[in-house]
Amino acid sequence: MEQNFDMAGLLEWYIDAGVDEVCGDAPVLSICRSKEKPEEKALESVAVKTAAAAVRPAITTLAQTTTSACKNARELCEKAQNLAELKEMVCAFEGCALKFNAKSTVFGAGNLKAELMIIGEAPGADEDRLGAPFVGRSGHLLEKMLLAIGLKREDVYITNVLPWRPPGNRTPTDAEVAVCLPFLKRQIEFIKPKIILLLGGSAANALLDNAESISRLRGRWLEYIMADKTPITALASFHPAYLLRNSAQKAKAWSDFLRLMKKLKEN
Ligand code: URA
Repeated sequence: MEQNFDMAGLLEWYIDAGVDEVCGDAPVLSICRSKEKPEEKALESVAVKTAAAAVRPAITTLAQTTTSACKNARELCEKAQNLAELKEMVCAFEGCALKFNAKSTVFGAGNLKAELMIIGEAPGADEDRLGAPFVGRSGHLLEKMLLAIGLKREDVYITNVLPWRPPGNRTPTDAEVAVCLPFLKRQIEFIKPKIILLLGGSAANALLDNAESISRLRGRWLEYIMADKTPITALASFHPAYLLRNSAQKAKAWSDFLRLMKKLKEN
């Protein structure tokens, strides 16, 4: 009996689950691997090496594509005279493949004269649907935390490292971050905030160009140096999405927000 197979539905399900690459035609059940005979394993290892050699040119191509997309992004940023122009350029930019899976380009939003600029990782499903940063569950928690230190959403400028949602909310790749980073840095130049709040490890690592864990980075006064060498005070804290899953860490985030409030009140 012929089955009615919904291929488009299956692909959509894969994309939502974060699958964005296909490594072979047949699925592999990795938990069964231990039952393989040694000779089968050896054959598989030759096949893997051959396949690796075959994809090497593809990796080189990816590196070249990334390098030229980064250059293109930097050139656009130099041309942008203001935030509105930059937003238009980001919306028209085609150098990041994430754009083609996303429904919206989620550019920064909020007070253009904000003293506090908040940077997250990337839009989630709600942000992608609505076209604005931090408007889902994480955004609601962020708004509550801001209110607790006397700030409304309209007081701050909120943006993300990436303006496009990675499929299934997977962690952005280094290449995606590298391509989109110039757009974030240019937003910082236009807003010139007094303090930058980095939410989560991805945002902190991308902007501060380090690989330290968020647990080590959070709660310390850090510095982001702009292209013209102006230093901007930065503070890293846990991402609200992480706090929603680990409420035991909310006390640490609260102490970070209190430090932030104190600093914002200093002249
Ligand atoms: N998480 C982020 O990092 N940014 C958003 O805009 C929403 C969720």
